[in-house]
Amino acid sequence: MRQAGEEVVSFAVGEPDAPPPESAKLAATEVIQDNATGYTVNQGLVELRQSIAEKFKQDQGLIYEPDQILITSGAKQAIYSLLVALCDEGDEVLLFSPFYPSYPEQLRLCGAIPVIINTRPEDNFQPTRPEIKKAITEKTVGMIVNSPNNPTGTVYDHRAIEAISKSALEHDLWVISDEIYEKIIYPPSFHISPAQHSPEMADRTLMVNGFSKAFAMTGWRLGYCAGPAEVITAANLLQSHTTSNAATISQRAALAVMEKEPEYGSVVASELAKERELMLKLLANIPGISVHPSSGAFYLWLRYLVPSGSPYADSLALANYLLENHGVALVPGSAFGCEGYLRLSYSVERGLLEDGCRRLKKGLEQILG
Ligand SMILES: Cc1ncc(COP(=O)(O)O)c(C=O)c1O
Repeated sequence: MRQAGEEVVSFAVGEPDAPPPESAKLAATEVIQDNATGYTVNQGLVELRQSIAEKFKQDQGLIYEPDQILITSGAKQAIYSLLVALCDEGDEVLLFSPFYPSYPEQLRLCGAIPVIINTRPEDNFQPTRPEIKKAITEKTVGMIVNSPNNPTGTVYDHRAIEAISKSALEHDLWVISDEIYEKIIYPPSFHISPAQHSPEMADRTLMVNGFSKAFAMTGWRLGYCAGPAEVITAANLLQSHTTSNAATISQRAALAVMEKEPEYGSVVASELAKERELMLKLLANIPGISVHPSSGAFYLWLRYLVPSGSPYADSLALANYLLENHGVALVPGSAFGCEGYLRLSYSVERGLLEDGCRRLKKGLEQILG
C-alpha cells in the first residue's frame, strides 16, 4: 500500500525504533576494511562466548563455560537448532498461548508436536502449575517459555517460574527459555529465568538470547544459546552442517558492544517506556478495546469486543479491515494462536503514534456502531 502511495501507520513492527550502537557500526566497518571477514570457529568467536559467559554471571548469577555457549544467526536459529537437537519424531513440547508464531512451526519442522496450553487474562497470561500438569503426557520432552513475552508483554513472576520449574523437575523436562526481551522491561517488574530457580533447573534449561532487541541489531542476525554442554554440542554440530558460523562481521560488532556499550539495552528500554506511556494514554480513549497491562517487550495486547455474529470476530478479518480501510497495521491475535485480540507494537516514531491511534479509533467506531 505504501508503494502505491498510500499512507500506512504500522503498529506491526517487531524491532526497536532505535539505531544500533555506534560501537557496533565502527567495529563492523573496521572488520570489513581490514579484510578480517573469513570464517570463525563454527561455535562462534571464543572472546564473544567469554563475554556472554561474563554477562550471564553478572546479570543472572549463572555460570557457563565458553563450550556451553553457541553463537547463532539470531535467536530464532538458536531455538530451531535446540529443538532439532532435543526432539525426536512424535515428541511433544508444551507451548503457552499466545505464543511467538515460529515456535509451533519450528516444532512441526522437526517432527515434534506442539501442545498448546492457553494462558488466561485473569492469570495475567502467566503459566500455572495445574494447567501445565494437565498437558504433560509420556511423550512430553520439554516446553518453550518466553518472558518478557511476545505478544502480551507479560513478565513471568516468581509463581510462574516456580510452576514451570516444579513441573520440569518432576517430569524430567527440558525448558527452552527465550529471553530475547530480557532488557526491555519496565520497573517495578524484573526478569527471572527458570535457570535461576535452582542448580537442577540450570542443568535442564536452554537459555536463548541475542542482539536483535536489546541492541537494536535485528538485521545483523546474531543470537546465542547456552546450557548443558551435550545439548550445545549437538546444536553446534547441526549448525556446522547447515549454516556454519554466524556472520563474522556481526560477531565482531557484538563483541565490541559487549565490551563498550553493554548497557545499551537500558537506553533502548527507556525510550520505549516513553512511547508505552503515551500509547497507553491514547488507547484509553478508544472504545471497544481493553489493553492488557504489559510490563515488558514493546507490545500491547488488545482485547476487542465486537457484536456477536460480526465477521470481525475473526482477528485477521479485523486486521485486514483496519489496514485496507483506515491505513493502520496491527498483527491479528490468530497469528499468536489466540482469537479476539490484536497485537500492537509501539516501537514507532513518536509523531506517528497519535495519527495511528486516531485511525484505529475511527476504524473501530465504524464497526462497533
Ligand atoms: C519471542 C521472540 N523470540 C525470538 C525472536 C527472534 O529473534 P532474532 O532476531 O534474534 O532471531 C523474536 C523476534 O521477534 C521474538 O519476538
